Amino acid sequence: MKVLHVAAEVFPLVKTGGLADVVAALPVALAAQGADVRLLLPGLPAVMDSVQGARTVIDIGPCFGALRVRLLLARMPGSQLPVYVVDAPYLYRRGGGPYQDSLGEEWPDNLQRFALLGWVAAHLAADDADSTWVPNIVHAHDWHAAMACAYIAEHPPTPAGTVFTVHNLAFQGLFPMHDWATLGLATRLMSPAGLEFHGQLSFMKAGLLFADRVTTVSPTYAREIATHEFGCGLDGVIRGRGASVTGVLNGIDDEVWNPATDPAIAERYDAERMGGKRSCRQALQRELGLDADDDALLVTVVSRLSAQKGLDLVLAALPDLLSAGVQLAVQGTGEPGLEAALRMAMLAHPGRVHVHIGYDEARAHRLIAGADAIAVPSRFEPCGLTQLYGLRYGTLPIVRRVGGLADTVTDATPQAVADGRATGFSFDAATPAAFERAVKRAVEARRVARTWRALVATAMSQPLSWEGPARAYLDLYTAVRAGEHMGRLGEG
Ligand code: ADP
Ligand code: GLC
Repeated sequence: MKVLHVAAEVFPLVKTGGLADVVAALPVALAAQGADVRLLLPGLPAVMDSVQGARTVIDIGPCFGALRVRLLLARMPGSQLPVYVVDAPYLYRRGGGPYQDSLGEEWPDNLQRFALLGWVAAHLAADDADSTWVPNIVHAHDWHAAMACAYIAEHPPTPAGTVFTVHNLAFQGLFPMHDWATLGLATRLMSPAGLEFHGQLSFMKAGLLFADRVTTVSPTYAREIATHEFGCGLDGVIRGRGASVTGVLNGIDDEVWNPATDPAIAERYDAERMGGKRSCRQALQRELGLDADDDALLVTVVSRLSAQKGLDLVLAALPDLLSAGVQLAVQGTGEPGLEAALRMAMLAHPGRVHVHIGYDEARAHRLIAGADAIAVPSRFEPCGLTQLYGLRYGTLPIVRRVGGLADTVTDATPQAVADGRATGFSFDAATPAAFERAVKRAVEARRVARTWRALVATAMSQPLSWEGPARAYLDLYTAVRAGEHMGRLGEG
């Protein structure tokens, strides 16, 4: 089975969130189960500088406003995973982020930049870019890669099947309708039944409508996005795809996130050698200038600072939580208002609150290894990876019961504790009071050493590897190849 994964980011080259972690780990896990997997990435500077052994597969020439476009084939650094790179200097080789400039403004030519990515994927699938390797399945991730599904569906008889994974429905890739002609797609698709979305054109809809199968990164989020509350205006489209929308829970990369081998942390540990975790906790308190308080519940947050992540709940509950003996260590970047409020909290509570505004992978490992608990109070969360890292590191998640958070954390109810199933603390309402109650339950639980030890042991024993999810995707690919398309646009 030849599978082409198409995405805009991949850890450790380009990362704005969990998508990059998934794109780095899932192809490797699929390859370990016998699939012949390649990646397709845009030639962003970090990609061009890092991939190894690049050679030109085909000179594509001018397209989407770029004068020179080439398709390269290389290897991911540190692995044998083959990666196609779209080298289009005019569109991709620039400073700033993958989607935004350094001031946080969307790149004005994102339509061209990501239409090109999908268009090249479609040409690979149609056997007119690299005749030596033609994918059976094109697996596109998020709106950045979604146009692959439209181009493939619109250019039969491309034999490749398509899978589109929604990592976050809130980011949709919306562009002015007057740019339609740039896409080179039939005008009949300029309608609400096609890519039109409230007067704009939507790349997300290209994936949702045209992929043979649509997946999201947790079963609960798959159900949620079919509702008005979580559907971001696309719930009708999602309901229209019926049973072809399913959820496959993300795994985590066991080599990158493993307390027994992690080079970034003060002392390595595992479930049998928990002394290392105590050292990590002490080292973290020292590093952050937090009081060397053994009794505190040291709670960390490692997150984008956006409305999605619910950090306003943490800020509102903070005074009461500090009175209850909580220490808080936050690392994140994002909305200036949240950054400022968090900085203020640190100034107001020396020794009890530490905030680092910035993005730092190694520091994230130290925070997650050293803390007692990790808070993820999201308003919505397609999967969430940091609570999984928390489980792996014996750092108990305190989460809102939504999306992947609901699917991965078992609340420490008396029954679940008694049954040995509990792995963290969950709450329902997106209110400071509900969050506060959950954190206070964690404070109480930590006072009973035996209970806490049992929770930590259960958390650390959760199966979180990519092996199971990779098998689920392989089954899905097999079903797609067998022709179980289940009603994509234009069929039935
Ligand atoms: P999302 O993709 O919605 O941001 P996830 O939980 O799926 O949420 O993934 C976030 C990823 O980004 C995790 O790997 C997390 O460790 C990382 N991350 C987020 N913010 C930071 C930060 N400030 N520094 C280091 N890593 C971060
Ligand atoms: C998105 C989601 C996050 C998920 C990640 C990887 O960024 O917000 O919940 O874990 O994608 O799938």
